[in-house]
Amino acid sequence: MRIGLLGFGVVGKGLYDIAATHPDFEVARVLCRRELTLPDAQVTHDFNDILNDDSIDTVVEVMGGLYPAWDYVKAAILAGKNIVTANKALVNHFYDELLPLVEQSGVKFRCTAAVGGGIGWLTELERVKRVDKLSKVGGIMNGTCNYILDNMTRNGLDYAVALKQAQELGYAEADPSADVDGPDTWNKTIISANIAFDVSLEKASVPVCGIRNIAAVDVAEFTKRGYVCKMMGTAEKGEGGISAYVQPTLVPNGEPAAAVPMNYNLISMVGSNSGPRSLFGQGAGRYPTAYNVAQDCVDVLNGVGFYSAYGAPVAANNDVQLQYYVRGGNVDAELIAEAWGDGILTKPVSVSAMHAWLKDNPAAFIAALA
Ligand SMILES: NC(=O)c1ccc[n+]([C@@H]2O[C@H](COP(=O)([O-])OP(=O)(O)OC[C@H]3O[C@@H](n4cnc5c(N)ncnc54)[C@H](OP(=O)(O)O)[C@@H]3O)[C@@H](O)[C@H]2O)c1
Repeated sequence: MRIGLLGFGVVGKGLYDIAATHPDFEVARVLCRRELTLPDAQVTHDFNDILNDDSIDTVVEVMGGLYPAWDYVKAAILAGKNIVTANKALVNHFYDELLPLVEQSGVKFRCTAAVGGGIGWLTELERVKRVDKLSKVGGIMNGTCNYILDNMTRNGLDYAVALKQAQELGYAEADPSADVDGPDTWNKTIISANIAFDVSLEKASVPVCGIRNIAAVDVAEFTKRGYVCKMMGTAEKGEGGISAYVQPTLVPNGEPAAAVPMNYNLISMVGSNSGPRSLFGQGAGRYPTAYNVAQDCVDVLNGVGFYSAYGAPVAANNDVQLQYYVRGGNVDAELIAEAWGDGILTKPVSVSAMHAWLKDNPAAFIAALA
């Protein structure tokens, strides 16, 4: 396999290093913006050098972002090159265009590292589907949120302090919004649901709420009551359709998800024969992520692509009734089940109704009882 590598950052450098140890891979060219000299590959600043090189059969996109990554991926597919990417934003955003294009062009496409970087979650979903029907997928998919929440829970820190520590240790970006406000988990939840259930969910119908408004008083109350707050994405196939949502969730102590430490991920599925299963590991990091990019390259070599999408259902969140901890905002008295410290616990309300309420009360913090 001759690889055109787009991006030489955390994951790109990792893939370059792993490829150097694998007899079947040759990174022929690397696209980057910086001045860079590599012993075994030609560095270019012009994507056309990769596109027009017929000896390059596979493009590995690890630049991130939507543009120009999508322009490059699309052009490469049309030129008959296989695609391996770790870019969850790109995969989710362009899913409906990407999959037909891949199918029509007869190339192979894989994106295992886009969800649960080092875990191999999407590959396992594909394997389960060969034998089982999946009914539920989701879990802790964002290491930054987990690091912050774990630090708050274990050390009683306030959100701002825990975030600052995460930034200093490299677990959070200078602008943490893609993690703490939920878009990262949202992308991963939708991709997982699409692959698990062979659909392409209507993205706007999947609500998302992040952890930005959580405070030490909330965590202290959860601890007192035997709960741990985790940022979770959930997608479930029920009689009324597929529900899908992303929100802080209160997990009872003693459940595996409650014990997930540091920046780790725990992503779970329920299969018709395999039952409930979880994959635990590093959701990010240079070599764990590049490992799955390299595994995808091996699959492409073996002629294994994946993914199919049929229909674009709206996530059916009206029928899912949950109780929510709420602090701040104006909650109708008739919806309140009991007082919880500085907040309240609601009676069961639909996920749709709670997220609609949150739009009018953006300073509030909510967390669902699992
Ligand atoms: N990091 C992880 O652990 C991880 C885990 C799972 C998935 N991912 C996904 O993998 C992708 C890459 O992440 P990363 O952490 O490796 O990002 P990164 O460290 O920021 O690396 C991105 C690289 O792409 C280059 N690049 C960006 N735009 C470019 C352009 N227009 N032309 C040429 N080069 C360009 C950057 O160049 P400069 O150096 O000049 O900016 C940089 O070298 C993202 O989609 C991310 O979501 C990452």
